[in-house]
Amino acid sequence: MNSAIVGLQWGDEGKGKVVQKFSRSHEWIVRFSGGPNAGHTVYHNGKKVVHHLVPTGTDKNKLFIGRGTLVNFDILNDEIAKLSEIYPDIKERLFISEWCRVITPVERWQDAEIEKLKGAKSVGTTGMGIGPTISNDANRIALHVFDLFDERIFREKAKLLKKFCGYQKDFEDDLLKSFNKVRERVEDPKISGDILFEGTQGIMLDPMYGTYPYVTSTPTIPSYLSYGSGIKAGYEVFGVFKAYVTRVGAGPFPTELNDDTGDAIRKSGGEFGSTTGRPRRCGWIDLPQLKYAIEISNTDHLVMTKADVLNGFDKIGVCVGYDRPFCVHDLEDVNAEIEYIKGWKNLESSEFGDFVSLIEKYIQKRIDYISFGPSEEEIKVR
Ligand code: IMP
Ligand code: MG
Repeated sequence: MNSAIVGLQWGDEGKGKVVQKFSRSHEWIVRFSGGPNAGHTVYHNGKKVVHHLVPTGTDKNKLFIGRGTLVNFDILNDEIAKLSEIYPDIKERLFISEWCRVITPVERWQDAEIEKLKGAKSVGTTGMGIGPTISNDANRIALHVFDLFDERIFREKAKLLKKFCGYQKDFEDDLLKSFNKVRERVEDPKISGDILFEGTQGIMLDPMYGTYPYVTSTPTIPSYLSYGSGIKAGYEVFGVFKAYVTRVGAGPFPTELNDDTGDAIRKSGGEFGSTTGRPRRCGWIDLPQLKYAIEISNTDHLVMTKADVLNGFDKIGVCVGYDRPFCVHDLEDVNAEIEYIKGWKNLESSEFGDFVSLIEKYIQKRIDYISFGPSEEEIKVR
């Protein structure tokens, strides 16, 4: 059976670890969206690795970076080098679609410029050039991987891109050099066997279903999966959510805790951006938001992560409603209604059971898996 792993909040739900666990029962791991803005932190044989572009497989998987993914070749090469220390054959198992759009220094510069222009209203992007690559693509001036095989075509297209965007510096030689290190891995492979589609970011960061304009620019919802991979396939959706909520960057966050409790969650959960190192904003679990994300993503199975982070807290908040009905483009000044329950010492306590029941009752869905630590073994089926 094919599976899709998606985030049900604002990213950083722990998808990477879930992908790693499920990779054992799938042959292919496929990326269909996002780019180097993603940061999936996983432990391979006890060694911590942050995946930005290479799908989070283990020692046998074939890995495909599908066309919906935006590629930065410098970041990709660094990652391959790091992963090669753990999996010496990783490069031979990796395939990159020739249709991937290529992020150049032009787009990273544009990303910074737009953020500056927006000032107080800036999105707080990862600075990876995601939005501008998508807008240049819509303007039909972005570069694709297939452009890089013909140096003349590449230089011509790069020239147009620079001229239109008002970017002066040369980057062509460096980009070609970086591309050449992986050019033999460019191939849209024939895929057979079970596929695991690795989602990036979270439903609330989807450009069309999330908290626009405080979103990323490639779709995060699983219905984009076939479009972004070129693979026609049925699949079951595994929706991953944390026992609390975090968000990096700006935008509405109804249950945010700007106090000692928020700081305590950040500290206990190690909530710092894996791509940018920024401290993540933290808050209580938001059930109206979660219910919305489950519906939009058509989630079949739920995975709750990081409940252990809340071990030892005196009381735990759960948002059970707002002062108005949930509306994804109207979350800026809602008042969240928080119900407090008694905290738990560990995940065997009855208080944790009460927390799970409260969530399940509200969302009208069972939580199938509970993850209680960073390693792939620390996840149990309920
Ligand atoms: P961009 O994707 O770099 O354009 O950033 C747009 C928004 O999405 C910002 O709020 C980022 O912090 C957020 N974002 C992008 N990628 C991730 C991710 O992998 N995890 C969490 N937030 C992300
Ligand atoms: Mg992340």
